[in-house]
Amino acid sequence: MAKSKQVFVCQNCGAAAPKWQGQCATCGEWNTLAAEVLSTNPRKTGSAARGEDASSSLAAEAIAESPRLGTGSTELDRVLGGGLVLGSVTLIGGDPGIGKSTLMLQSAAALNTAGRVLYATGEESLKQVALRARRLGLETATARLIAETCVEEIVAAAAGLSARVLIVDSIQTMHSERVEAAPGAVSQLRECTAELVRFAKASGTAVLLVGHVTKEGQIAGPRVLEHMVDTVLYFESDTGSRYRVLRSVKNRFGAANEIGVFAMLEQGLREVTNPSAIFLSHHAEPVPGSVITVMREGTRSLLIEVQVLADEALSGNPRRVAVGIDGNRLTMLLAVAHRHGGLLLHGQDVFANVVGGVRMAETAGDLAIVMAARSSLNDSPVPNSLIAFGELGLAGEIRPVPFGEERLREAAKHGFKLAVVPEANVPKRPPEGMSVRGVTRLNQALEAF
Ligand code: TYD
Ligand code: MG
Repeated sequence: MAKSKQVFVCQNCGAAAPKWQGQCATCGEWNTLAAEVLSTNPRKTGSAARGEDASSSLAAEAIAESPRLGTGSTELDRVLGGGLVLGSVTLIGGDPGIGKSTLMLQSAAALNTAGRVLYATGEESLKQVALRARRLGLETATARLIAETCVEEIVAAAAGLSARVLIVDSIQTMHSERVEAAPGAVSQLRECTAELVRFAKASGTAVLLVGHVTKEGQIAGPRVLEHMVDTVLYFESDTGSRYRVLRSVKNRFGAANEIGVFAMLEQGLREVTNPSAIFLSHHAEPVPGSVITVMREGTRSLLIEVQVLADEALSGNPRRVAVGIDGNRLTMLLAVAHRHGGLLLHGQDVFANVVGGVRMAETAGDLAIVMAARSSLNDSPVPNSLIAFGELGLAGEIRPVPFGEERLREAAKHGFKLAVVPEANVPKRPPEGMSVRGVTRLNQALEAF
């Protein structure tokens, strides 16, 4: 008979305790411990029971290529590191309604040409999935569907079908017979994922898991899933924008931080293969307070527009508002601009924004922010054929940033004629049609145009 053991698992951090406590000893959260039953079946099969050596040679394994399947979308393929690896487990997180199910259904239809695909839905009925497929123009797709929330049933169905790809939408709705907890509880999430990971590794089926993100931006049921799977992708979007960015935060088969860009249209998700200029506002005439910079996302360079509005403060306490930029960084940059660039910003409300709802996490945008602030303050537009990037130090020095040449090339490709960049980032041969001005100090940069 199966032995079972009761433990108390924190629903916030996943730590287990032998008895109930009001506060989790690991993460310090209150009232998060819930009773869960684990069954502890002893192993009766496998090489341990037979006393054999199950190891294999690294060299032999290294030669055997891990085959990859094309998902029908070059953007998704790139984020995955060149296609879906057989036997891998990928987690796709994102806010509800962002388009995870749409992406999965479209991929299911495309992947099905390379072998059988099983799409297991625990959230929607078969009718609902079929309706969406009709809307996406996929009514002739031959992928298999199952509406099921029991993970053992899904694994059995996938095994019976010899599926090459299994899509589980979503992991939060799944439950395993081995755990007596409600679907979505940490122990359920962990057991269901573990079951699917075992299945993927044993059968060579590629498994795609959909996961919802909590308000705090983490996949619900903390980060317990992230380390169990091979690849973690996040779907992000600015509210109201039709663009969706798929970002790899972990990838055992490719580069992390790679992005793929999609647009959500009436007929589903369409990939945006050349996204570098979608975030620009394309003014016909140059406007004050707006400067274009080049940001790096994974292996890509994106042109980003930074806007600053400096306006006379009506209260004695001027406001500093940053959207898409770190607020502390903005305050610091304004102080440097005052001290080393002579910008008289006290008595001015300063609003800074990155166009298109993009978040600029890089310091490479510093120079553009200060240039935009000066442009707004003096009400003198920066030429719209100019780009600027560079990190600003507290002493007013301009520091080099990584991938200078790639950034310049991307800007030149989009017709920018003049670049103001850190001296150390000036290439020996500037890109064709572009003149590059190297600067070492902030005042130099502000005089550059
Ligand atoms: P969905 O894939 O169901 O999101 P998730 O699985 O991440 O919760 O996407 C639902 C949203 O996408 C919904 O608000 C409608 C929109 N949508 C379109 O705009 N066009 C389409 O073709 C489809 C299928 C959905
Ligand atoms: Mg969904």
